[in-house]
Amino acid sequence: MKNILITGGAGFIGSHVVRLFVNKYPEYNIINLDKLTYAGNLANLKDIENAPNYTFVKADICDFETMRELFQKYQLDGVIHLAAESHVDRSIKDPFTFAQTNVMGTLSLLQAAKEAWGNDYEGKRFYHISTDEVYGTLEFDGTFFTETTKYDPHSPYSASKASSDHFVRAFHDTYGMPTIVTNCSNNYGPYQFPEKLIPLFINNIRHGKPLPVYGKGENVRDWLYVVDHARAIDVIFHQGKIADTYNIGGFNEWKNIDLIKVIIKTVDKLLGNPEGHSVGLITYVTDRAGHDLRYAIDSNKLKEELGWEPSLQFEEGIEKTVRWYLDNQEWMDHITSGEYEKYYESMYENR
Ligand code: NAD
Ligand code: TYD
Repeated sequence: MKNILITGGAGFIGSHVVRLFVNKYPEYNIINLDKLTYAGNLANLKDIENAPNYTFVKADICDFETMRELFQKYQLDGVIHLAAESHVDRSIKDPFTFAQTNVMGTLSLLQAAKEAWGNDYEGKRFYHISTDEVYGTLEFDGTFFTETTKYDPHSPYSASKASSDHFVRAFHDTYGMPTIVTNCSNNYGPYQFPEKLIPLFINNIRHGKPLPVYGKGENVRDWLYVVDHARAIDVIFHQGKIADTYNIGGFNEWKNIDLIKVIIKTVDKLLGNPEGHSVGLITYVTDRAGHDLRYAIDSNKLKEELGWEPSLQFEEGIEKTVRWYLDNQEWMDHITSGEYEKYYESMYENR
């Protein structure tokens, strides 16, 4: 493989994948396709934007004609598909955009790949990045999502991702396209858009703003450092079995409220505040509609078959992450000033 399309490369996870591939594989041409929605930010890729093996294309995956032209123009061999609408709260307010981008956009890419590749799939690969949220929710019973867990999505976001996963697998089963799907747990780390829990709370603590905890803060998520996700994507893209599914997770479950306390403690420490200084910012708010109780991934298959494991302990990862956001306040302020601030305020007023 030589010409690799990465979609959604200006977003959070995509930017880490683009960076890894551009730096690690000088022999590849990495084409980053992104619509630059509110979540896309080319500042995430400043360090590699002039690399000779990197090209940025601003386009919408739903634009089928443009996707067709792109496959011809760049003679694409591989696709790593991350472009999506990704925030559950937004999907509750606007499910249409999620169906459009996540379902129709994925279908548009698949169909463009199928037309470009004909029946000659030698050396080709379509790798679709999905989420553990398609599996639904777990009780507090020590069970995990495995690759054979039945899909049971609850939010419009997870329903749209589940649908796109089914389309990807259907293109393998129907047309023989060499596809792979992976389902990953919650990611954290640098460059995450500050509507998601961890960067939002770091930024709110910095500004002494309330920390809106949904419900009782008892929901559990399994957190993985984003660079470890990017490493897993690299391994699976190159060595994963065609038509297979791999779960990616950190075996790192945290109850929201406990995680929030760790964030508060770390931010206060790094800002030089006395311990407990920002605890009073915790504000319990109306629960998210359909809020899944617990996600937990069993990633043993990936470990046993391809030897991948998370490289970072959570304590190290969260400190690194908090430090990054505090050191990169310009990045954060650029996003949270102006239009976005108004949008964020209105989201919370209307909850
Ligand atoms: P993100 O919202 O930060 O980035 C999404 C990117 O896709 C943005 O750059 C945006 O501009 C682009 N995009 C959106 N619509 C587009 C369109 N129509 N055409 C082209 N580009 C478009 O999301 P993320 O958190 O980086 O997630 C990336 C992928 O990983 C998604 O598919 C998501 O479902 C999946 N995922 C995310 C997590 C997580 O914790 N963030 C966990 C598991 C899986
Ligand atoms: P989030 O970062 O939105 O990821 P996801 O919904 O995909 O898991 O949220 C993580 C958890 O934190 C989830 O249980 C919802 C909760 N949460 C809050 O309590 N308050 C908030 O302001 C946000 C954004 C999330």
